[in-house]
Amino acid sequence: MRRIDIPAPKVGEDTAEGGLEVPGGQARELTCVSLFAGGGGMALGFERAGLTHVLLNELDRHAVATLRSNRPEWSVNSLDIRDVCFRHLHGTVDVVEGGFPCQAFSMSGKRRGFADPRGGMFFEFARAVREIRPKVAVAENVKGLRSHDGGRTLDAMVAALEEAGYRVAWRILGAHNFGVPQKRERLILIALRGGAGGQILFPAELDGPAPTVRQVIGDGVTGPGARYSARTAWIMSHVPEGGNWRDLPEHVLREFLPNGPYGGGSCSGAAKRLAWDQPSPTLLCQPTATKLTGRCHPAETRPLNVREYARIQTFPDTWRFEGPMSAQYRQIGNAVPVALAYHLGRAAVAMASGTSTSTGLSEAAHVVKARRPIRRRAVTSPPSRPRGRSTGPTRPGRRRTTSPKGTAR
Ligand SMILES: C[S@@+](CC[C@H](N)C(=O)[O-])C[C@H]1O[C@@H](n2cnc3c(N)ncnc32)[C@H](O)[C@@H]1O
Repeated sequence: MRRIDIPAPKVGEDTAEGGLEVPGGQARELTCVSLFAGGGGMALGFERAGLTHVLLNELDRHAVATLRSNRPEWSVNSLDIRDVCFRHLHGTVDVVEGGFPCQAFSMSGKRRGFADPRGGMFFEFARAVREIRPKVAVAENVKGLRSHDGGRTLDAMVAALEEAGYRVAWRILGAHNFGVPQKRERLILIALRGGAGGQILFPAELDGPAPTVRQVIGDGVTGPGARYSARTAWIMSHVPEGGNWRDLPEHVLREFLPNGPYGGGSCSGAAKRLAWDQPSPTLLCQPTATKLTGRCHPAETRPLNVREYARIQTFPDTWRFEGPMSAQYRQIGNAVPVALAYHLGRAAVAMASGTSTSTGLSEAAHVVKARRPIRRRAVTSPPSRPRGRSTGPTRPGRRRTTSPKGTAR
């Protein structure tokens, strides 16, 4: 089996906290693989929690450039995960984490679930867990996953990890309860390898009020940012701080929603302007669109700039995003807020090292069992690749074995 060269932690503001105290008093380095790593929110939080990355995988070239430029020492593969074999890492990694694509389960999408190739990416995560067999696996997705297909989708995911020999629990966590100035709720699924001992742990919510928008962008941080069209700027100039389309005067509302806002709740978040003294609503990938995803600065009539976006997602100012502006917003909007990821990372560290007495963690009330039998084929087969997107070998036996230092690109 290939041995892994573990890169030394980088020293500086954004780096790991260093070695971990494990029972017996010895410091030991815990290792992590990051899948669907995006612009690095989850990976950065896990690094801060003390985990050392041995491999990150991400398909999007701009996100890969972000990871590589901020952390040249990280081993980042720019590959479609369906082409990657992880068997060479078997038994050598403590934690696997991945925020698999969420569009297939999101309330704001068509919710095609496993019928959407992006929805099937969970099974690639589960395959990586089977091949690597870490002590702990942490997956992140949208809250809407819980109710998708009446709960059967989540059941299938739980069943896939149970079949791999893991105990599984999940919770919905609100980022605003973990030091993030944003009301962003996410489903966190944690799997603990059978026989590893200990409890499944989630981070406990922090005391005190959530941070506010003013606290993180009130100093007027500057940076590149998208601009509104003249029409959108005119519409948004009528929305007061903390308001949305409901606050528009009638003549503006007629221009904004010519067919009327009469279709019910689907556009309740449209034309949203942030409030200074509250957490932000969930940041999405496109801050310019006024319908649903737009997020206007609290006082100025413009979308949040890239740096403001990053601060609300609790990225440090030193973390630079690569690619065109739209790609930068996408990486930030897709990310797990770094502060939430840090607390998840601490829970993973405690489970992997057996230090379950660490403060700020809470045991899962119960370990989930898939509620109904799932046909084996449905839960373990990786989804077939959509036609016309051949990017490499697909048969499991032909997957690429990636090198630890990112030589496969
Ligand atoms: C929700 S984002 C992950 C965000 C990341 N966890 C973070 O905290 O910044 C999902 C990522 O999966 C990547 N992705 C989608 N399909 C993929 C595939 N087939 N192989 C590898 N990565 C893929 C996307 O490019 C996207 O960056």
